[in-house]
Amino acid sequence: MSDKNRVYVFDTTLRDGEQVPGCQLTTVEKITVAKELEALGVDVIEAGFPISSPGDFQSVVEISKAVSEPVICALTRANTKDIDAAAEALRFAKRKRIHTGIGASDMHIKYKFNSTREEILQRAVDAVKYARRYVDDIEFYAEDAGRADNEYLAQMIQAVIAAGATVVNIPDTNGYCLPEQYGAKIKYLMDHVSNIDKAIISVHCHNDLGLATANTMAGVFNGARQVECTINGIGERAGNTSLEEVAMIMQTHHALGYHTGINSKRIYGISNLVETMMRMPVQANKAIIGRNAFAHSSGIHQDGVLKHRENYEILNPEDVGIPSNSIILTARSGRHALKHHLERLGYNIDKVNLDEVYHRFLVVADQKKEISDADLMELMGDGDATNYDDKAIKVTLLQVVCGDPLRPMATVKLRINGEEKEASAAGNGPVDAAINAIHEIIKDDIHIDEFNIQSMRGGSKDVSKVNMRVKHNGQSYYGYGYSTDIVNASIHAYIDTLNKIY
Ligand code: KIV
Ligand code: ZN
Repeated sequence: MSDKNRVYVFDTTLRDGEQVPGCQLTTVEKITVAKELEALGVDVIEAGFPISSPGDFQSVVEISKAVSEPVICALTRANTKDIDAAAEALRFAKRKRIHTGIGASDMHIKYKFNSTREEILQRAVDAVKYARRYVDDIEFYAEDAGRADNEYLAQMIQAVIAAGATVVNIPDTNGYCLPEQYGAKIKYLMDHVSNIDKAIISVHCHNDLGLATANTMAGVFNGARQVECTINGIGERAGNTSLEEVAMIMQTHHALGYHTGINSKRIYGISNLVETMMRMPVQANKAIIGRNAFAHSSGIHQDGVLKHRENYEILNPEDVGIPSNSIILTARSGRHALKHHLERLGYNIDKVNLDEVYHRFLVVADQKKEISDADLMELMGDGDATNYDDKAIKVTLLQVVCGDPLRPMATVKLRINGEEKEASAAGNGPVDAAINAIHEIIKDDIHIDEFNIQSMRGGSKDVSKVNMRVKHNGQSYYGYGYSTDIVNASIHAYIDTLNKIY
C-alpha cells in the first residue's frame, strides 16, 4: 500500500469530547483512556486545552509522561499566553504538537473578534511563528472553515504554512457543510494553495446534520490525510466524527487504498471504556459499536445469517473486538473462559496475575448473574487498590449500620504497615461514617473535594465505580475503587488516595 494513502488518525476524545457537559474525566481516567488510545494505534492524541483550567494543564502533563508512541497535542487560541501554557504542559512529551488557530469565517471575524480579515490573518501568522519557537510540529485550525470564503481561507492557509504550520486543520465547526461542499473545499485548497505540499490537510467535522463521517470521507477523497475524531463520536452538541466509523469505512472499502494505523480489534474495548467513564451511553443502533449493530432480530435475517454470515453482515464483529461466540461469564466459569475474554479485550495475559484476577472475578460474579465486558475492564483497571498486599494501608474490616431512623455508624479496621488499628464513628450517612472512622485512625488533615459514584450499566446488581479527589498539604490526589457495594467502593477509593499520599 502506498504511503501517500496513509491517513493519520488524530483523536480528540480527551479535548473536544471531554468538553461535553457531564463527560469530564479525572486525570487518572484520562491517562487510562490515553493508554488505550495508544494501544488502539492512533497517531495523535489531543490531550487538552492547557490554559483552560489547572486540571486540563495537569492532564496534558501527566498524559505526556504516560504515553510515548503517539504525538501529544495541546490546543491553544492564537495568543502568546495560551501557547506558553501549551508548551509548558507538553514539556515531558516525547513527540509534541501545538494546535493553534483562529476563526476564518466572516461570521467569526465580525461577530466573535470584531475584527477584519487582514488583522485575523496577521494574528494567525503571528501565532504560528510564536508556537514554532517551542516546537517544530504545529497544527493550525481555521475555525468555522466550513462557512468561510474559500478564497480567503486559501490565503490564510498559504500564509500559515509559510509561517511554519505543518498540519492545517479545516474544521466544519458547526457541522454545516454537505459532503460535496466540504470535499470541494478541500479540493480548492489542494488546487489553490501553492505550498500545500509542505503540510498535511486535516479534517475536523461536527455532526449537527448527521454528516460528520460523510464529510470526513469527502475530505479524504479530495486530499486530506489526517482525520480528527472521537471514540463513539462524542463531542460538542451532536458530536464529532466517530473514530470507529472512519476507521472501519477505510478497512471495509480497502480497495480504495486508504490505510490507518488503527488496530480495529481494540475498538469495542475502548468504546466501552469511554462510554462508562464519560457516562455517555452509546445509542443501541450506533454504527459499528451500538449493541444492535450485529443483532439480527427478524426471522428472515436470522435465517440468512445462519446460512451465510455475509448475507446480512458487511463487517465481521470480531474485527472490531465484539465476540461472535457467546461464552457467557458467570460465577461457574473457569480461568480458561476468563482468560479467553481478557485476551479478546486486548489484555496481555502474560503480564496478568490470572489467579489474582480470577479471585476478584469470583467475588463480583457471585453477586451478579452475568459478567459484562465493562465489569471485566473494571476488574483490570486500577480498581480496588486495597486488594494488593504491597499497599501500606489496607482495610481489613468495614462494618456499617444504617437505615431509617437509625443513626449511621461505621467500624473500620486498617492494617497500616503491618499494624492493625480500629475505630468507630458516626456520620450523616454510611460513607461519611466510615470516612470519619478512618480519620479517627489516620488523624491527618485530608479534605475530599471531588466524589463521584457511577454505576457501570444500571440496575441494582451492578458494579459501582467511585472516583475521588482529595487535598492534602495543598496537593491533589486521585483515588479509584469499585465494588457491588457503594460503601465498599467509596472506602476503597479513599484508601487508594491515602496510599498515594503516604
Ligand atoms: O470544531 C472546531 O472548530 C474545533 C477547533 C478548536 C479545532 O474544535
Ligand atoms: Zn471541534
